[in-house]
Amino acid sequence: MASKTPVVDVHTHMYPPEYIQILESRDAIPIVRSFPGTPDPRIVLLSTEMAPLKEAEAAAARGEPPQTSALPGRPLTSHYASVTQKIHFMDTHGIDVSVLSLANPWLDFVDKDQAGNLAASVNAGFSAMCKAHPGRLYFFAALPVTAPADVLLQTIADVAKLPFCRGVILGTGGLGQGLDDPAMEPVLAALANTGLIIFLHPHYGLPGEVWGPRGGTTGEYGHVLPLALGFPMETTIAVTRLFLAGVFDRLPKLRLLLAHSGGTLPFLAGRIDSCVRHDAHLWKAAKTRRSIWDVLHEQVYLDAVVYSDVGLQAAIAASGGAKMGGLDRLMFGTDHPFFPPLDSDEQGEWESVSMNADAVSTALGDGSPEAAAVMGGNAVRILRLYEEPADKA
Ligand code: URA
Ligand code: ZN
Repeated sequence: MASKTPVVDVHTHMYPPEYIQILESRDAIPIVRSFPGTPDPRIVLLSTEMAPLKEAEAAAARGEPPQTSALPGRPLTSHYASVTQKIHFMDTHGIDVSVLSLANPWLDFVDKDQAGNLAASVNAGFSAMCKAHPGRLYFFAALPVTAPADVLLQTIADVAKLPFCRGVILGTGGLGQGLDDPAMEPVLAALANTGLIIFLHPHYGLPGEVWGPRGGTTGEYGHVLPLALGFPMETTIAVTRLFLAGVFDRLPKLRLLLAHSGGTLPFLAGRIDSCVRHDAHLWKAAKTRRSIWDVLHEQVYLDAVVYSDVGLQAAIAASGGAKMGGLDRLMFGTDHPFFPPLDSDEQGEWESVSMNADAVSTALGDGSPEAAAVMGGNAVRILRLYEEPADKA
């Protein structure tokens, strides 16, 4: 009897305890703050939450009892830092393997002299978790992007040797000037040459003004605008900038796994292509380069964290490479521990997971080989899961 294709979650985060301690010691976002009378501390990540955070702190200082639903950030439950909880979540949702990654904003804000050591300790922590759960956990390593270049490049060489490391997680900021910054190219080249896939994930969104006062400073619209729209646009812009800078052509071995099915890239690739073809300044150089479609088919993978079969169909069509019409480049994810259920027990099933799993079944057929590929088969192949490369054993 053929063995069942495993279910693999390639988009699943954690904040290890030493990282949480750093957030607890800070007085700016990203920050962890406790408010008297609330069961969990709050983790506040988004810059748009500065005003609500200040207001909540002022109210607490006046001794006013906090209204939990009005507090900034989100409750920092055990789901964020406990590997036992991660395994429970996996078991509850039938997930065989998780590829863990540090959650945003990673090490982007860490002092340059501390970043190298913190990266080493975070990556050692992830390695230990994976070792303690053989066959169930792998990880994308964190990079000390603020550290001096030699430290950053040494970290890449070091993580490439870690047995359970299957790539790195990276934000769109690069070294501070974005991924198309020429200073970033040696870093991207080192990642390409070591065969480490980059899991590209948003954090910064769009400037707060675009959300208007009701979406920003008053907090009336919660996290909806920055998370639903800002995050995907940020990813789209970062990849388009890399493309326009010619980085994919110069580094053909560079491989990117894009969070949230590539943001809006599947939907906008045609428009990007057309704008390049109609830009007198760019077209002369771009003519000899591969198109955004070529890049999508050859160097980009997409996760399936898009919550609807409509978006998923666009992702499948956009990444339509030679094999299986694009189905060989898509990988299931959950975004755990973000988006817990509000109306049911967090120890039970999460609607944010079933929405993504249902999108795969609806788009590809429940139990079909294509659905099994997206739910895990692709990740096993692309990320070489279960393999122990000879030089890492
Ligand atoms: N998902 C993430 O990965 N990070 C956030 O901050 C919110 C949702
Ligand atoms: Zn995420």
